[in-house]
Amino acid sequence: MCKLTDHIGRSFKVLRVSLLDKCNFACTYCVYEDGLTAAIQKPVVLSSDELVDLIGRLHDVLHLQTIRLTGGEPLLYPDLPKLVTGIRQLGIHDIKMTTNGFLLAKKVSSLQEAGLRSVNVSLDALSESSFYRVTKRAGLKQVIEGIIAAQKMGLEVKINTVVMAGENDQEILPLLDFAFRHGIKIRFLELMGMGHLFGDTDSKFFSRQALLERISSVYTIDEQAKKYGDTATYWNTACGYSFGIIANDSHPFCADCNRLRLDAQGNIYGCLSSNTPIPLREVSSQKGLEAGLYAALGQKQMQFSGSEMSMLTIGG
Ligand code: 5AD
Repeated sequence: MCKLTDHIGRSFKVLRVSLLDKCNFACTYCVYEDGLTAAIQKPVVLSSDELVDLIGRLHDVLHLQTIRLTGGEPLLYPDLPKLVTGIRQLGIHDIKMTTNGFLLAKKVSSLQEAGLRSVNVSLDALSESSFYRVTKRAGLKQVIEGIIAAQKMGLEVKINTVVMAGENDQEILPLLDFAFRHGIKIRFLELMGMGHLFGDTDSKFFSRQALLERISSVYTIDEQAKKYGDTATYWNTACGYSFGIIANDSHPFCADCNRLRLDAQGNIYGCLSSNTPIPLREVSSQKGLEAGLYAALGQKQMQFSGSEMSMLTIGG
């Protein structure tokens, strides 16, 4: 049995699985322009059986706590309930998904039945025009319906909002109010230099400091200690609400990163900043698998430095 822990105690407890490089939105922080989504999409390579087998082999070594399904857009994966059932049958019960929410209302019931526990829904605006500006789709109504449906089914629901200066920063307070009214945790994300934004986030960057100034102009807020392994730091408001900020750039949280990423082609990555894929799909021996995992552990860095790989491929 190998001890997969690095010199500062980091290991892999959360596996993020990108199911496909395909999305039905074209968010400006993810893809360069509408149409590119289609141009760079690759076919689904791993069937749900193959994925369950690979996740099972990783679980045998790592004793994973959590699986997070991502994409592209994971709700476009054809066999999703079967995949969730298969993961649950491996003995992993903390199964989560990050989605744009567009198809969530239609699909949430079968996913909840299969064992999905939690969804993070990307919602970057509450006004139709800003929503369209960011996502290039007119899907606001469907996304909100998806959020409400998931909540009704008893799933834990969180909202992820990527804040971009001059694009949707005017949505911060309305989104906060929406989340508070519905009893949903919202997390604001600093823009990350991924994909076409690699090395080029400055003009749209909206910092954690700017977020806190905006929010504290309306609410009295109190910072909470960040939990080990969490990406977000949370603040409580004087009236008992809470929100989070994922400040990749200004307050990096790499020191307690416990995440391993698997892409839709069966490659693993130990770090979001490292875009060197480690292929595992053809690796059948235990030794080979462990060697791949050690290499992934060695990729972990102390500071996020961006990547040419888009979130469309690596799923966040
Ligand atoms: N910067 C910050 N967050 C991003 N996401 C996608 N691209 C970026 C980026 N460049 C977010 C999505 C989703 C999560 C997986 O990552 O909005 O919530």
